[in-house]
Amino acid sequence: MKIITVDSYEELGSRAADVMGAQVIMKPNCVLGLATGSTPLSLYQELIRRNKAGILDFSRVRTVNLDEYVGLGIESDQSYVYFMRKNLFEHINIDMNNTHLPNGLNSDVYAECARYDAVIESLGGIDMQLLGIGHNGHIAFNEPADSFTVNTNCVDLQQSTIEANARFFAKADDVPKKAYTMGVGAILKARRILIIASGEGKADIVREMIKGPVTPKVPASALQMHRNVTVILDKGAASKL
Ligand code: PGA
Repeated sequence: MKIITVDSYEELGSRAADVMGAQVIMKPNCVLGLATGSTPLSLYQELIRRNKAGILDFSRVRTVNLDEYVGLGIESDQSYVYFMRKNLFEHINIDMNNTHLPNGLNSDVYAECARYDAVIESLGGIDMQLLGIGHNGHIAFNEPADSFTVNTNCVDLQQSTIEANARFFAKADDVPKKAYTMGVGAILKARRILIIASGEGKADIVREMIKGPVTPKVPASALQMHRNVTVILDKGAASKL
């Protein structure tokens, strides 16, 4: 793992934009795996700025997102498809037809998981996968478990994840209890992985991800087995390394 520590959350965004931007410049039709949550926001702001400044061109870029709540679609401002449009896609010159997320409105779990795996396959796999990390060590919505997931699956969200994400909803009860998520196996198939974390609250789990044993109890620890991972941390998130 290549570990980069920066001073601030803003700098985290710009260093991550350097890494992702280099990927886009090297391969203009690359497949980017994207993530939601608070951590990627400074990165997305910077990608938007660089696109508007003519530095980055997304016209041929394809994207696949990690996850989506079951039951939510574009009509819901809590859905991840809505998040991606508002925080990135609507502000850059990407073709919306080239952006992909699991369809939270498809209640046929088997069909939706198979469809999403086929989408990733049809794009030729993921060139660079962006990840955040949950306080419990989840990547995407792969929660701590007894074994690693492989392909897209439908998960029951843990209470700690529901509580962490309740900040985006009117009340905790409104947070969906299930989500579609790319599997850990599919994430590990990405050719490069970029994982970002910010704040002291993530320091313990970042240490476990990097220095702890590889275990499905800390899904992010699986990244130790990937040969091309870049970790960008601000001072707080790196404080226990
Ligand atoms: P956060 O979420 O960026 O909002 O902290 C990260 C995650 O849960 O993967």
